[in-house]
Amino acid sequence: MRAAVVTTPGEVPELAEHPDPAPVAGSTAVRVTAAPLVPLDLLCASGTSYFGRPAVPYVPGVQGVGLVENSPHLAPGTRVWFATSAGMAPGDGSLAERCIVAPDDLVPVDAELADPALAALGLSAVAAWMSLTWRGGLQAGEHVLVLGAGGAVGQVAVGAARVLGAGRVVAAARSRAARDRALAAGADEVVALDQDTATLADRFREALGGRLDLVVDPVFGVAATAAAQVLSDGGRLVNLGGASGDTAEFSSAALRSRSASVLGYTNNALTPAQRRNALTTVAGHAAAGRLAVAHEEVPLADVAAAWHRQATGDPGIRLVLTP
Ligand SMILES: NC(=O)c1ccc[n+]([C@@H]2O[C@H](COP(=O)([O-])OP(=O)(O)OC[C@H]3O[C@@H](n4cnc5c(N)ncnc54)[C@H](OP(=O)(O)O)[C@@H]3O)[C@@H](O)[C@H]2O)c1
Repeated sequence: MRAAVVTTPGEVPELAEHPDPAPVAGSTAVRVTAAPLVPLDLLCASGTSYFGRPAVPYVPGVQGVGLVENSPHLAPGTRVWFATSAGMAPGDGSLAERCIVAPDDLVPVDAELADPALAALGLSAVAAWMSLTWRGGLQAGEHVLVLGAGGAVGQVAVGAARVLGAGRVVAAARSRAARDRALAAGADEVVALDQDTATLADRFREALGGRLDLVVDPVFGVAATAAAQVLSDGGRLVNLGGASGDTAEFSSAALRSRSASVLGYTNNALTPAQRRNALTTVAGHAAAGRLAVAHEEVPLADVAAAWHRQATGDPGIRLVLTP
């Protein structure tokens, strides 16, 4: 089959002929129709992730959408979203014409949503939804701040906060284009991130009307430092990424005086049922037009160029590879 193949960790994968995945008892063979390129794919393939250096050659791609070809559980032709451990454990991933998927990693999806749109949501949407609900405990009427709101996690967090009845949703992002995506996703107001901590905290306070219950934070760094200063009594900051850096500073006085919490989140802690339910729920809201991730379809044949775009700067929107 044709696949994107990493032969040296840290180098861009190339389109190549690669052996079809060998059948595994109990697993499902999927014909891939769309697979997004996400930060985790690049991190795993770099060989510097906390999962260690991947065995090469391997096909990257931690998730995708496709049609069942052969399965002990599902009828041929069933449309599925699926996850893989490519780059985190031995085995091939989704950036290929075919993929073998373990039973717990398969989610049949009937929501009326094009495959690339479903692929663009994927694990970023699961993380946004579960950060707001399971980890962040969002209640109707609460005020939400979404950092990095122009990214996939951010766009879904803004739309999902609206769906879940947030009282006010403020979005923060670096570029005008990213802030426009956040507005399109349903933010009440947007704040530019390129400001010092004190100014940023003032802007957050003002935009949020003096109340902040929950922060969805895929960014960390200065943005998280400023957001934590603004948390109200019982406020929560859920961190799920470090796009701007791995450290942030928090004031003990600010946290303890308001019984505020800083919480970590990873999709890897979800049970298969939690992940399946979250994916099904966000896909349903997306089919109803309440959520979306801006994306661009790119032929799998152009994987090297797409990888390069993702690696050298924020392409602004999710790149979805189609075999
Ligand atoms: N914990 C989990 O389970 C989980 C799941 C999914 C994703 N994540 C993590 O969450 C982060 C975002 O994921 P995504 O899928 O939304 O990625 P994405 O669509 O590629 O978006 C990238 C995001 O990172 C922000 N960003 C990049 N460089 C930045 C910088 N130097 N300073 C500030 N912001 C910066 C962008 O901000 P702008 O909006 O300003 O452009 C954008 O929000 C990644 O770090 C990813 O690894 C974690």
